[in-house]
Amino acid sequence: MTTLKAVRGTRDLLPPETALWNRIEATARAVFARYNFGEIRTPVFEDTGLFARGVGEETDIVSKEMYTWEDRARAQSEKPQSLTLRPENTAGVVRAYIEHKLGETGQLKKLYYIGPQFRRERPQKGRYRQFSQIGAEVIGPPSAGSESPLRDAEVLEMLATLLDELGITGWKLEINSVGSSADRARYNEILRAALEPVASQMCGDCQRRAVTNPLRVLDCKVPEDQPIIDALPKIVDSLDEESKRHFAEVLAALDAARVPYTRNHRLVRGLDYYTRTTFEFTHGGLGAQNALLGGGRYDGLSEAIGGPKAPGIGFAMGEDRLVLTLLGLETAQPEKIDAYIAPLGDAKDEAALSRMNAAGLAMARELRRGGLSVELGDGSFRLKKSFETADKVARCIVILGQDELQSGILTVKDFASGTQTKVPRAELAAHLRKPADA
Ligand code: HAM
Repeated sequence: MTTLKAVRGTRDLLPPETALWNRIEATARAVFARYNFGEIRTPVFEDTGLFARGVGEETDIVSKEMYTWEDRARAQSEKPQSLTLRPENTAGVVRAYIEHKLGETGQLKKLYYIGPQFRRERPQKGRYRQFSQIGAEVIGPPSAGSESPLRDAEVLEMLATLLDELGITGWKLEINSVGSSADRARYNEILRAALEPVASQMCGDCQRRAVTNPLRVLDCKVPEDQPIIDALPKIVDSLDEESKRHFAEVLAALDAARVPYTRNHRLVRGLDYYTRTTFEFTHGGLGAQNALLGGGRYDGLSEAIGGPKAPGIGFAMGEDRLVLTLLGLETAQPEKIDAYIAPLGDAKDEAALSRMNAAGLAMARELRRGGLSVELGDGSFRLKKSFETADKVARCIVILGQDELQSGILTVKDFASGTQTKVPRAELAAHLRKPADA
C-alpha cells in the first residue's frame, strides 16, 4: 500500500519550530493591541462571488489559483452554490464589515486576523498552497478619517515596529501609489499604447498581458524584459492632483516618523482592489519569493461588493516567510525549557525505581504549577543519557537520587555556565527562575 503524505504545497508544522510560530503570533497580537486593533475571525470559505468581485476576475489569484467547488444544493429547485477556500482575507473582512454594519458606529474599525489562506500556486521555498497570513485592516466611513494619509503612515510605522520587535533585521519597505481607479484606468491605456510597438520583443506572458492586463507587465521578472519595462511610462505621472498630494503626505509622515522606505514605480500589486498607496516589505534572505508582506489602500472595495463607501488600508504578512527569515537569522535559537529532572534509580530494584520516579513526578508537578517549564526523565536512564537528553532541551538539569531525596539538597547543573550548585529543595523554584547569568 502506498503511504499517504501531506498534499503537495501543504506541510506539517512540528515542534520546536511551532514555538517560533507561537512567538511570532504572540508578538503580533501584543503590538496590534498597543495600536488598538481587535481580532476578527472570518470563515475559511466564502461565496466565490466575493473574490471574483473583490479581488478581481482578471487577477492570477481568481483566474488560476483558487480552490473552488460547487456545494450540493439543499433542494432540487435550488442552484448549487459556488464556494471557495479563501485565497486572502481582506475581501472577507470587508464582507463582514458590511454584513455587521460596522460602519454605522461612525468610527474607524481596526481589525486584525491570523489564519490559513489557500492558493494553487507552484510550490517553492516560501510559497505554499496552504499558507498563513497575519494581517490587519483599518476601515471606516470617510467622516471617520479613513481616507487620511495619516492612516497609511501609521499602518506602515506599526509594521516597522512589529518587524523590529520580531527581531527581523534587514527588511526593506518599498512603496508606490497606483492612484484612484480612474488614474489606474488612464495609466492602463497609456501602458497598452506604449507596449504595442515593443511587446513582440518580450516574453510570452508579457505579450499576453500587454493585451489583457498591461499593469501586470510591471511584475515580469524575465531579465531580458527589464530594460523595456524600465523605459515604460510611470504610474506616478498619471496620478491626479489629489492622489499626488495624498502620496506626498504619506511619505512626509513616514519621514517624520523616521521609517525608511524606497519608492518603487513598478509596485502595482496583483489584486485589483488597490487604490493610491501600495507597499511591500521585502527581505534579502528569502530568495525569489522575497515579499515578507504586502498591502495597500482599497477605497472602493466595500462598494465593489455592495457595501457603503468605506475606504480602507491594510496589509497581510506571510507568516511562513517570517518564520523562514527568522530561522535564517542567528537570533532564532529554539527556546530551552527551564529544567530537566533526572530521577536516579536502580534498574534492578523495581520498587526503588518506581519510588524515585514518583518523587520526580511530585517535584515536576510542584515546579510546573509554579510556572516553570520542566521535562521529567526516567529513573531507569543512565546518568550520561540523562545529561545528554537534558542538554538538548533544558537550561538546567536537576539530579534527584536517593541521597538528594533524603537530605533535601539537590544538585543542579546549569549547562550554559557549566556550574554545579547544591540547592535546598525549598529554594529550587527560585533558583531555577533566576536568569542563568545572575
Ligand atoms: P498578497 O501580496 O497577495 O496580499 O499576500 C500578502 C503576503 O502573503 C505576501 O507578501 C506573502 O508574504 C504571503 N503569501 C502570499 N501568497 C503566498 C504563498 N502562496 N505562500 C506563502 N506566502 C504567501 C494580500 O493577500 C492582501 N490581502 C494584503 C492586504 C491586506 N492588502 C490590503 N489589506
